[in-house]
Amino acid sequence: MTPGTLLDSKVLHRIDFRRGDNLVENQWKDFDMRLLLHDDNLGPRSPGDSAEMDSEMLALAYAYPPLSAEQSWVRANFISTLDGAATGDDGHSGSINTGADREVFQLLRALSDVVLVGAGTARVEGYKRATVKNRWSALRKGRPAHPTTAVVSRSGGVPAGLSKARQDSGEVLMLTCHRAGAEAIDLARGALGRGHVIVAGEDTVDLMAAVDALAMRGLQRVLCEGGPHLMGDLTAVGRLDELCLTIAPILVGGQHPRITAGASAAVGLVPRLLIESQGSILGRWTAPD
Ligand SMILES: NC(=O)c1ccc[n+]([C@@H]2O[C@H](COP(=O)([O-])OP(=O)(O)OC[C@H]3O[C@@H](n4cnc5c(N)ncnc54)[C@H](OP(=O)(O)O)[C@@H]3O)[C@@H](O)[C@H]2O)c1
Repeated sequence: MTPGTLLDSKVLHRIDFRRGDNLVENQWKDFDMRLLLHDDNLGPRSPGDSAEMDSEMLALAYAYPPLSAEQSWVRANFISTLDGAATGDDGHSGSINTGADREVFQLLRALSDVVLVGAGTARVEGYKRATVKNRWSALRKGRPAHPTTAVVSRSGGVPAGLSKARQDSGEVLMLTCHRAGAEAIDLARGALGRGHVIVAGEDTVDLMAAVDALAMRGLQRVLCEGGPHLMGDLTAVGRLDELCLTIAPILVGGQHPRITAGASAAVGLVPRLLIESQGSILGRWTAPD
């Protein structure tokens, strides 16, 4: 089968994306990506093929699976150092990431319907309403130009950067629980709009119900960008379908969070994709079939 046939028939479901769409025009940066392992979808390329992965190949490699009208797919995206740190010494993930990781971060946003983020990460990392870079905008055909951001908070406080309007960006939803209290919920409704606050759960956000509520709004391709506590909770309730992880080729020592925090939860995952780029390993792991 030729790559063109694959693209037309099977890939990037419900996204009108074909070869020739000039996905990234001249903005694609050459990260010298080398495919180490893949399970399917990538056409005639074989594992260990050291030829450059182009932007279309990368979009195929990270495509969401086909989903029926009721289904959701929850993918998380993280970066970690070789010694397991999720942040550098400054307490931010930006100090450990790499060029290829930043590109995949942007691609995953373009592929998603909704970016799910814990309020802690939104505060520390200064989250703003999500936007999709021009170079990946062809992946948004038939959908809003930018994904929604859904912030998860027990306290119901809207992180400052997300309450601010931003031209040409996605909308914001607050996913909170009754423990936040009527006053905080009213404040969130005032900041984001009445229909933009979803109350799911009593003492903490019921992540199963929250993901279902997103799907009812057509937000089925979920991209969780962390942080570790939200990731730990998603894992513990069994609502994580996929982990996209970049392993940055550095050691940082010290005391740092890992990509999960909170209660113990053991989940076995299978590698579906491994890419090497300038020393970083980027991959996808999913639950066994
Ligand atoms: N390496 C990476 O890829 C990566 C990715 C993301 C973040 N990080 C780093 O991780 C650090 C933040 O860690 P964190 O664990 O505090 O992040 P987090 O999980 O985003 O934030 C925790 C906060 O999010 C809310 N929350 C999370 N899960 C919830 C649930 N199930 N129900 C209700 N509320 C929930 C609560 O907000 P309220 O306090 O508002 O109630 C909670 O205090 C930062 O240093 C950031 O840079 C690294």
